[in-house]
Amino acid sequence: MKKRVAVLRGDGIGKEVTDAAISVLEAIGRRFHHEFEWVYGLLGGEAIDTVGQPLPDETIRICEESDAIILGAVGGPKWDNHPSHLRPEKGLLQIRKHFELSVNLRPVQAFKSLLSVSPLKEEVAEGVDMMIVRELTGGLYFGEPSFHDNDKAVDTLVYGRDEIERVVVHAFELAKQRRNKVTSVDKANVLESSKLWRKIVEEVAARYPEVEYDHMLVDAAAMKLITYPSAFDVIVTENMFGDILSDEASVITGSLGMLPSASLRVDGFGLYEPIHGSAPDIAGKNIANPIGAILSTAMMLRSSFGMLEEANALEAAVKNVLESGFCTSEFKNIGRQILSTTEMTEKIISEIER
Ligand code: NAD
Ligand code: IPM
Ligand code: MN
Repeated sequence: MKKRVAVLRGDGIGKEVTDAAISVLEAIGRRFHHEFEWVYGLLGGEAIDTVGQPLPDETIRICEESDAIILGAVGGPKWDNHPSHLRPEKGLLQIRKHFELSVNLRPVQAFKSLLSVSPLKEEVAEGVDMMIVRELTGGLYFGEPSFHDNDKAVDTLVYGRDEIERVVVHAFELAKQRRNKVTSVDKANVLESSKLWRKIVEEVAARYPEVEYDHMLVDAAAMKLITYPSAFDVIVTENMFGDILSDEASVITGSLGMLPSASLRVDGFGLYEPIHGSAPDIAGKNIANPIGAILSTAMMLRSSFGMLEEANALEAAVKNVLESGFCTSEFKNIGRQILSTTEMTEKIISEIER
């Protein structure tokens, strides 16, 4: 099969982990006889420096002409004091909106071989296998008005019925293929948008009698996520709650660098990126964990290209490398062998080629 993929490496470790993911996909291509064409585009801080905008028109064109998008991460201190429309993060929000990537899937799985390194007790982290379904193109991130001056700041939290319904339906459909359980997370004791959210969850749930569901307030959910995480199957929630809860959930796996994500349009077109950021504190040192980025491309193989065997082979390669006692440097003092970004990538490639 031949596939054209837009590659937006972004800033900081975004470049390093994306290069890692591309090398791994090249190995998958060799083993399974696929040809990937990589088309590189600018996004984020580098795009601001080069062409004066965080999401250049050329990048949109490249993405529109591709079968899927791979993204690293954007941002960094260099651009932190820019006005909102000239921040790297704005480019990320614009690309999500432009391509209507309204459903963001963030799977969280505890690898058996890393259980002992999770900051949580082994018995708490054991067996965790959840899917966080985050609404990605609405809510506080996009509501208008949005501004601040010296004396006042305004953000607007607005959700329309259709925006809520499509992500909730996606969550229930996913639950049917998993353990038939949905937890909807909101703040319905305070927020009007959450009251509508809850109502729509009830309506959708009525169409899926085989799926068990409950509602949880976000503060309690944050607590339960690290006290009893294996109780969750599918979590569905609005944009900002999903952002925060998924970084929190990543500690179950031992590192933020482990978690992949897929951002999907209703017709299945997708953008694939790790959930972490550009990590300026470790950028340029060849120590970033590339596994979140690499596992994101497994989601691409499965979801955008229907390459199930290939995705399974990639995930198995990652698992085997972890089980052989290797990890990257953010896992400290745990008696495992620490690898650089490129060494970890090579190990995973060797597993694929074995
Ligand atoms: P971050 O995710 O970049 O880093 C948080 C911490 O986790 C840091 O200590 C970092 O070193 C560590 N970390 C992150 N990814 C890692 C990896 N793969 N391997 C090892 N350690 C890793 O979050 P931040 O520091 O709050 O933000 C830095 C910049 O990234 C900001 O400009 C922010 O806006 C941006 N950001 C971008 C994205 C994205 O592009 N999707 C996501 C989050 C943050
Ligand atoms: C993420 C990031 C982004 C978000 C930022 C950089 C805009 O934190 O992808 O999780 O909040 O969605
Ligand atoms: Mn985030």
